[in-house]
Amino acid sequence: MNVLVTGGAGFIGSHACVSLLEAGHNIVIADNFCNSSPEVLEHIKTITGRTFSHYNCDLLDYEELAEIFEKHEIDAVIHFAGLKSVPESTRIPLTYYHNNLTGTLHLLQIMEKKKVNRLVFSSSATVYGTSNQVPYEESMPTSATNPYGWTKVMIEQMLNDYTVANSDAAITCLRYFNPIGAHKSGLIGDNPNGIPNNLMPYVCQTAVGKLPFIRVFGTDFNTKDGTGVRDYLHVLDLAEGHVKALEHLEKKKGFTVYNLGTGQGTSVLELLDTFERVNNIPLKRELHDRRPGDIAESYANVDRAVKEIGWETRYSLEDMCRDSWNFIRTNTDKQAN
Ligand code: NAD
Ligand code: UFG
Repeated sequence: MNVLVTGGAGFIGSHACVSLLEAGHNIVIADNFCNSSPEVLEHIKTITGRTFSHYNCDLLDYEELAEIFEKHEIDAVIHFAGLKSVPESTRIPLTYYHNNLTGTLHLLQIMEKKKVNRLVFSSSATVYGTSNQVPYEESMPTSATNPYGWTKVMIEQMLNDYTVANSDAAITCLRYFNPIGAHKSGLIGDNPNGIPNNLMPYVCQTAVGKLPFIRVFGTDFNTKDGTGVRDYLHVLDLAEGHVKALEHLEKKKGFTVYNLGTGQGTSVLELLDTFERVNNIPLKRELHDRRPGDIAESYANVDRAVKEIGWETRYSLEDMCRDSWNFIRTNTDKQAN
C-alpha cells in the first residue's frame, strides 16, 4: 500500500514508519516539524534501508496538503499529526482546537475528494474521561477534562459521522494508553523539548542528570501502593498495531475503535523501581501531592484488538525502561524525536 503518514517525524509516527516500511508498504510523510526534526527522516532511512518522499507540510495549509494527493497515488492515511500537551492545551485551547480539528478536517475533505477511503487515526485513552471503571472498554462513553482530550473526542465523532455518510469509508481510531520505549537502534525515540510533563521522559532527564529528582505525584490514590497506575506499552508494539489496523481496513469498512495497551497496570513506584533495576541507575524521588486532574488508574481491556486485528504486545516493562534509557543516553544534547 502507498500510505500517507501525517506527523511521521514524531515519536510514534517515526516508529510506525519503520514498521510500515519493514512490512513492505511505501510511505509518504507530511510533517511541519513543529514538534520534531527533519533529522528523524534520515534515521528512518538508516534503520530500514528504504527511501521515501516527505514534505514539510502544515495540515492547516489545505492547498499544500492537497498537492501531496495530486503527486502521489495514496491508498490509505495514518494520521498522527497533532499537538499533544495537556497543560499547554489548557493555556492555548484555540491553537489546539485549530491545529487538531482543522488539520483533520482538511485531511478528510481531501480524502473524500480523492476517494481515499482508508484512515487510521491516533486517538487516546484520555477519551475515557474520569467516570469509567478500569479496565477501559471501547464501548464505554467518552468525555474529556481538557482541550487536548476534547480534540480527540471531537475528532472521533467527526470520523464516525463521516463513515455514516460515506459507505466506502473505512476508519479506525486507535486509543493509545501510555507509549514509552524507543527503537533498539537508539536513533529514534521520545525527547521532548523543555521540562517533560510525562513520567518516562522525566525519569530519563533525571537519570541523565538534567533534572535533580523525580516528583511522585500522589501517594494516596486507591491503588496497590498509593501511586498512579497506568498501562505503559512499548512504542514498537504500538507501531506494529498500526500496520495490523491498516491491513485490517482492506477487509472492514465503517468506523472501528481499538484500545492499544498491554492490559497491565503499573504504578509510578513500580516503574521507577524497574528503571533503576534494569539500568542500574539510582533515581532520587520526592513525594508530592496529586497532580491536578490525574486519575488513580488507567488501563485497557485489549480483547478487541487481539481478536479482530490479531495484535499482541511483545515487549515487557523491562524492555521499555531499557530502550527509553538507551535512546536518551545516546541523544542527550540533540534535538531528537
Ligand atoms: P509528536 O509530537 O512526537 O508527533 C506529532 C507530529 O505531528 C510531530 O512531528 C509534529 O511536528 C507534527 N504536527 C503537529 N501538528 C501538525 C500540523 N498541523 N501539520 C503537520 N504536522 C504536524 O507526538 P506523538 O507522541 O508521536 O503522538 C502522535 C499522535 O498520537 C498525536 O496525535 C497524539 O495526540 C497521539 N497520542 C500520543 C500519546 C503519547 O503519549 N505520546 C498518547 C495518546 C495519543
Ligand atoms: N507522574 C509523576 N511524576 C511526573 C510525571 C507523571 O508522578 O513527573 C505520574 C502521574 O501522576 C501519573 C503517571 O505518572 O500517575 C503517568 O503520568 P504521565 O503524565 O506520563 O501520563 P498520563 O497518563 O497522565 O497522560 C498521558 C498523556 C496524555 C494522555 C494520557 C492517556 O500525557 O496526553 O496519557 O493516553 F491523554
